[in-house]
Amino acid sequence: MIAPELIKKINLVFHEEEARTYDERHPEILRAERTRWREIARIVDRHLTSLGRPAVLVDLGTGTGFVPSAVLPVLREADRLICTDISPNMIERARRLISAVAPKAHVDFCIADLEQFDPGVGVDIFTINSTLHHIFSPSAVLERIAARLNRGGLLIIAHEPNKRFISNMVLRRLFTSGSAVRRLLRGVRTILTQTSVDHLRLQRMVYERLLREQVIKADDGWISPENLQRFVDVHSPTATGRLDVEEGFDPADLHPMFEQWQCICFDTWNFAPALGDWRGRPLVEGLLKKLYPRDGLLFSIVLQKSQKAV
Ligand SMILES: C[S@@+](CC[C@H](N)C(=O)[O-])C[C@H]1O[C@@H](n2cnc3c(N)ncnc32)[C@H](O)[C@@H]1O
Repeated sequence: MIAPELIKKINLVFHEEEARTYDERHPEILRAERTRWREIARIVDRHLTSLGRPAVLVDLGTGTGFVPSAVLPVLREADRLICTDISPNMIERARRLISAVAPKAHVDFCIADLEQFDPGVGVDIFTINSTLHHIFSPSAVLERIAARLNRGGLLIIAHEPNKRFISNMVLRRLFTSGSAVRRLLRGVRTILTQTSVDHLRLQRMVYERLLREQVIKADDGWISPENLQRFVDVHSPTATGRLDVEEGFDPADLHPMFEQWQCICFDTWNFAPALGDWRGRPLVEGLLKKLYPRDGLLFSIVLQKSQKAV
């Protein structure tokens, strides 16, 4: 079994290298998730109003600043937002983005491993977008969050892989056959246009750097540029391009402690990811969502910690 420290180091190096091109590489977050986060920002706004005092928010795995840019417009002057990430390059990008929008609230930046991170204060809202699946032990992180979250506080988890998608035989079949067709089409396009895009360019750079820094050895054998993504997205069922039934999170069963918490909002989407973008896709997506309303490949959830001590 791969050591937790190695997963962390691979993630650090990967995101250090990815920071510069992250925004172009992830339109599925930076563009497609804006609307969802506008909705989430409304929930944040209502929560801050109901608190009636300055709030502390912590964003875990801030990356280039997508979540801060979505929630800052609803924060008040006396509120405080702490942005954290293991990657200094990511934090630098986020710092630049946020200083350009000159927010009203106070914003702190912290280079930290979220498996160790302690905000040192009670937190009213934790946000974590597309980051939990990078962590070796997500349940330990959720426990740390729960311990630091004030009673009645919100935990907002978004853009994480849904285990229910993989357990759904119809969606799984659709994914597998769609992926095979897409691979075939890519191969045909490469032959016809005689151009080949290096899909593994970033992975090769990261692999070389891991070798240079002696994190791995060339004769280790178990890691290569081709399978590196599996160690980066350690809990993603699609990191290898095939479906891994062991990975992902069941939103209804994230951690036993959440049984005492209230679910304020749940959403799931991306029912036919391997179909790609074509005209008929929204129709197919809509139909699948009607049939399997909890089983999209990705999900977001807003949980509220109980007001009472448990
Ligand atoms: C896919 S990016 C998501 C970034 C951002 N939340 C967004 O939605 O665009 C995952 C982020 O998690 C960070 N990360 C990975 N492992 C981490 C760890 N152990 N502690 C803190 N951050 C980590 C990476 O550096 C990266 O910025």
